[in-house]
Amino acid sequence: MQKRSHWSNRLAFIIVAIGSAVGLGNIWKFPYIAGENGGGAFVLVYLFCILLIGLPIFVAELYIGQKAQHNAITSFAILEKKEKSLWSMAGWFGLISAFLILSFYSVVGGWIIDYFYQSVSLNFADKSDEQIRMMMTNLFSSPGKQIFFHFVFMSLTFGIVIGGISQGIEKWSKILMPLFFILLTGLLIYSITTPGFQSAVEFLFSFNTSKLTASGILEAVGHSFFTMSLGMGAIITYGSYLSPKENLFGTAVIIGFMDTLVALISGLIIFSVVFSYGFDPASGPTLMFQTLPVLFAKSAMGQIVAMAFFGLVLFAALTSAVSLLEVIVSYFHESLEWNRKKTTTIFCLILFSLGILSALSTNILAEFWVYKKMTFFDFFDHITSHYLLPIGGLIISLFFGWKIPNENIAAVIKNKFSLNLIVWSARLIAPIGIAAMIINSLL
Ligand code: TRP
Repeated sequence: MQKRSHWSNRLAFIIVAIGSAVGLGNIWKFPYIAGENGGGAFVLVYLFCILLIGLPIFVAELYIGQKAQHNAITSFAILEKKEKSLWSMAGWFGLISAFLILSFYSVVGGWIIDYFYQSVSLNFADKSDEQIRMMMTNLFSSPGKQIFFHFVFMSLTFGIVIGGISQGIEKWSKILMPLFFILLTGLLIYSITTPGFQSAVEFLFSFNTSKLTASGILEAVGHSFFTMSLGMGAIITYGSYLSPKENLFGTAVIIGFMDTLVALISGLIIFSVVFSYGFDPASGPTLMFQTLPVLFAKSAMGQIVAMAFFGLVLFAALTSAVSLLEVIVSYFHESLEWNRKKTTTIFCLILFSLGILSALSTNILAEFWVYKKMTFFDFFDHITSHYLLPIGGLIISLFFGWKIPNENIAAVIKNKFSLNLIVWSARLIAPIGIAAMIINSLL
């Protein structure tokens, strides 16, 4: 057997894991679902979900991968010291989720590439609000454009993953993530100077519980999985390339904190613009594509900001897409014993084809309902966030809480309070929360 590749050190793991967690979920999805669910009330529930569900499951996945040193499916059997384990089911669900998520994720990644290209070619300059809105309509109504940009995004992801762990994923994350954070800071400073900043802060942080709805809570639970890359073995897979000696709890806290911070900052940036120009905060998935370009067209610095913004959303999206692809590649690479080149090539082709269904969901297939008025795009997004990731997370949580001997966990989480928080969240709080959510959304 080949020797397993590893990240260079703990910092490298932190960078790639933040790269995985921070993505379209933070910059595109979080602001629009917060907007749709009334802002502050949603944010409060979301913060609780990160602490009581996201953090323990992150620790669980990291523990499983780091100890087993195998892919997201085989790892369960290794830890149970059995030939086959029923718990591996979490890995199988995960594999299905990885295909579905990456297929629509890459389409949104494609939109970002188009917007990046538009900003580099200075196409936002001197346009009216209406014209900018039309740019989005044009993109959405064109099957050719959508498929083309989806192809470009998939190819970039392919280009990184084919390089492997240290020469591909680690190397690129170390370039893309620092750039990302520099720009995010710049944009935050900029947004503080806009007239809408105050309203943005109030919108996101006035915790008005009367606005809380059942569907908002469900959305928050589901999103806590999505945003921290949990419930499908991405962190098991990344953890399996981390040396078993490295500290795990502190690492999980850093990543959860950074991911949440980026979501909140993105929310502040986007809502500052929304309130400065009187847009509708609840406008849904198109929020980012309608609001920011308008701002960019208006301000003098706007052209540069636009390039930087879409460039960096692209970086964040790429480092996340890479982690989704790595779950698939690592499993098939190890189980079929194909080499990395062949595995990556074949699965990228499959993913590209599957993504076409989502690329056509805003045009040719816009009226094709897979289920209850959902297009393929909506359906893939919905069943992964609302069912597959939570179910995967539930299994992982129970496995970690009940199957791993307490003293083994105590050996890696030295602080008593943290240990109890994690173990009891994994055993009871997270499973009950997830189960309640699944039952509720089925009813
Ligand atoms: N967390 C990423 C984001 O917020 C998306 C992502 C990457 C993901 N890997 C994942 C979601 C694994 C669920 C599972 O954009």
